[in-house]
Amino acid sequence: MAGKKMKRILVTGAVGQIGSELTMALRKRYGAENVIATGRKTRPSDELRNSGPFYFIDVTRSETIEAVAKKHRIDTIFHLATILSAVGEKNPQLAWNVNINGLYNVLELAGKLDMVRVIVPSSIAVFGLETPRDNTPNETVLRPRTIYGVTKVAGELLGNYYFYRFGLDVRGLRYPGIISHKTMPGGGTTDYAVAIYYEAIKHRRYNCFVRADTRLPMMYMPDCIKAAIDLAEADLSQLKHHCDFNVGAMSFSAQELADSIRKYIPDFECTFEPDFRQKIADSWPCSVDDSPARKEWGWQPGYDLDAMTRDMLEALGKK
Ligand code: SER
Repeated sequence: MAGKKMKRILVTGAVGQIGSELTMALRKRYGAENVIATGRKTRPSDELRNSGPFYFIDVTRSETIEAVAKKHRIDTIFHLATILSAVGEKNPQLAWNVNINGLYNVLELAGKLDMVRVIVPSSIAVFGLETPRDNTPNETVLRPRTIYGVTKVAGELLGNYYFYRFGLDVRGLRYPGIISHKTMPGGGTTDYAVAIYYEAIKHRRYNCFVRADTRLPMMYMPDCIKAAIDLAEADLSQLKHHCDFNVGAMSFSAQELADSIRKYIPDFECTFEPDFRQKIADSWPCSVDDSPARKEWGWQPGYDLDAMTRDMLEALGKK
């Protein structure tokens, strides 16, 4: 069973950090008219709006997704709409509603409309203080302390449940912090690893909200997009996991990140002033073991820290 082919794709959260770039990559691959971008509130960029269909929907209101899905005879959903860790701690009720009820609506709709596939990202936020922190195994203790992590664990379990119970082909991967230069992340704990580049270019200084020795797994956007598409297109018969793949790319401390920027901007200054996000970062792994992803669908990242820094500074310099 290779799994059916995706033809008409709907992306939720298409205006977000990952969604804005994933939508463009999918449009290139599947045809612009076949990739429907959706967002809730934020105005889409001209690029997103002018390159293919765009709709405003609210994932907590199923009928708003259903109307677009039926109109465009959608067979696949990339469900990226989510409330991230830092915003989630400020409004846990909202995080539960969007992350849990939103996913439930997407899965139910996908079943009802007999869709081919649902892709839903999970996160390193599923791990917690009792999890081994280095080279964190795929199968391990999942006891997160953030509401974001709680909803992501539930989301993985729910996705797997829909696969085994209803035969719906749901797939997901645990992203580390994602670094990119097109769209800012929307309120996560790993946002410092993006902001530091912007500030290095603009002001030659950055006040980082986690300690210098904070080490987290990270990934550059081109690898993030590749991972989503590779997993979505993988042969179903090769998958032993479904919604809970660890995916790694690089791991560095905030200090090492600043040092890497200093290789290109020698007068860059970084200070460290931890806030409430430090505790969240301290509950997450330093690095992950992603051997199941490598084995089952050939995962292979392309960027390390210095390659990413070169690319980020060049792209932001032009901006
Ligand atoms: N980047 C996310 C966050 O910090 C982790 O999935 O919330």
